Amino acid sequence: LLEYSGSIDTKFGIYKEQWPDALSLIEKHSLRVKSLHFHVGCGYSNRHLEAWEAALNVVLGFARILPTVQVVNLGGGFGVPHTAEDELLDLQRWSRLLERNLSGSGYTLAVEPGDYIVKDAGILVLTVNSVEVKGRTRFVTVDGGFNLHPEPVFYNLPCEPVPCILRENDEQIPVTVAGNINEALDTWARNLDLPLPLEGDRLAFINAGGYGAAMSSNHCMRGDFHEQLVLS
Ligand SMILES: Cc1ncc(COP(=O)(O)O)c(C=O)c1O
Repeated sequence: LLEYSGSIDTKFGIYKEQWPDALSLIEKHSLRVKSLHFHVGCGYSNRHLEAWEAALNVVLGFARILPTVQVVNLGGGFGVPHTAEDELLDLQRWSRLLERNLSGSGYTLAVEPGDYIVKDAGILVLTVNSVEVKGRTRFVTVDGGFNLHPEPVFYNLPCEPVPCILRENDEQIPVTVAGNINEALDTWARNLDLPLPLEGDRLAFINAGGYGAAMSSNHCMRGDFHEQLVLS
């Protein structure tokens, strides 16, 4: 996922070849740059840590030519597991990486792990509208689409559907779970093994706690939803 920001040009940040311009602006306006801030995409995991360390070193290279810097803000992007196959980000390894690169530097570190904290605290509950076979695919459609939670479609970060009702003899069969927006890309999950739901059943979409309400839209005028805070 780090490739999202790394392999194509994006509108974000200051590119290395722009450093001389940035430095001359700093000098021209007599600025004291106290903080450097970077954020390298969303959902990084253990296999991305090497690339993340390389990005950190680019930022530290910039910090070295700005002696007024006191704070390095490491941004967010900490990945959480989305499927049973995903691994937990090894925070011990992450902190050793910081120690290796920053120990003795004197910088104050800031982090923005918003998604990491809230992602698995929220679920989106939708109702099954229809179950039907088209071509070679068994579609389960629900009464909410990517406009209520864009991450599965935008970033391929699934909010896996889980049945709210368990029945006896629930054989798992592959289904494609689709939303109610008039776009073919509006799919929550493809070929996922699920006990076949009935119309009216509820499905809980897990890991919906980050970027759901905040990124929701009124696409197809289907933007209505309500949020409930569950305290235990
Ligand atoms: C600068 C910056 N910090 C933090 C974040 C959020 O990170 P996370 O998705 O881990 O909450 C973003 C998200 O785009 C960002 O651009």
